Amino acid sequence: MSRVALVTGGSRGIGAAISKALKAAGYSVAATYAGNDEKAAAFTAETGIKTYKWDVADYEACKAGIAQVVADLGPIEVLVNNAGITRDAPFHKMSPAQWSEVIGTNLNGLFNMTHNVWPGMRERKFGRVISISSINGQKGQFAQANYAAAKAGDIGFTKALAQEGARAGITVNVVAPGYINTEMMSTIPEKVMNEVILPQIPVGRLGEADEIARCVVFLASDEAGFITGSTLSANGGQYMI
Ligand code: CAA
Repeated sequence: MSRVALVTGGSRGIGAAISKALKAAGYSVAATYAGNDEKAAAFTAETGIKTYKWDVADYEACKAGIAQVVADLGPIEVLVNNAGITRDAPFHKMSPAQWSEVIGTNLNGLFNMTHNVWPGMRERKFGRVISISSINGQKGQFAQANYAAAKAGDIGFTKALAQEGARAGITVNVVAPGYINTEMMSTIPEKVMNEVILPQIPVGRLGEADEIARCVVFLASDEAGFITGSTLSANGGQYMI
């Protein structure tokens, strides 16, 4: 029987590439999405991957949603915490809502999702938790005090949980993408992209979502069982840590 993988924010951007790559690798995949019904329906029609709508910032919604996925596909063996949002603003202009929305999705989402699959993984003595952090959680970023705080938090969360999961056969890792060619990039003004960001990337281009998906498939595999608590950076050489 194929292993079951759940990808949050799995119908668009990097998440869609991860869902498709896991399916191609033989997993039974479910993808969550937060708002865009039309895009999710189109994704399911294109890929055959079932989508589920809930907000990862809401603990009870995660609990109920995960129970539904388990009823449909079976116990979740691979959790990919990919759902993420930006609400960029220089700190002096950042509102409390911009702060809490980003922390709610990008950091609390990891607790809400992982906490609801963790007991089953412990019981079955197998699990893979892979979270998508960001280069900006590693190096900080202008106008992203909220996002950088959450993404740095994702790395700390991973390192702590890796220690708890180790004896139960659960690995917990993080992928830290650099600037990837997705819709999220459209919020960056063209001038900033061309004059500030691109010149900082030694390979001279944005990354592709598939290049992040490949990292996830590798960390999810049974063969990656000795890798835990690690941060896999895929950023075109922009930041080396
Ligand atoms: N680095 C350095 N300077 C930047 C900058 C950046 N990334 N982004 C904006 N600036 C500068 C602008 O060039 C501008 O400078 P000048 O006034 O000298 O022209 C100044 O900051 C803008 O300041 P304002 O107070 O006018 O800012 P604003 O209220 O209009 O907000 C902004 C604009 C939201 C900061 C907008 O410029 C922006 O979105 N910038 C991009 C921020 C960014 O890089 N976010 C990363 C998104 S990618 C991501 O999150 C995915 C990932 O994981 C990698």
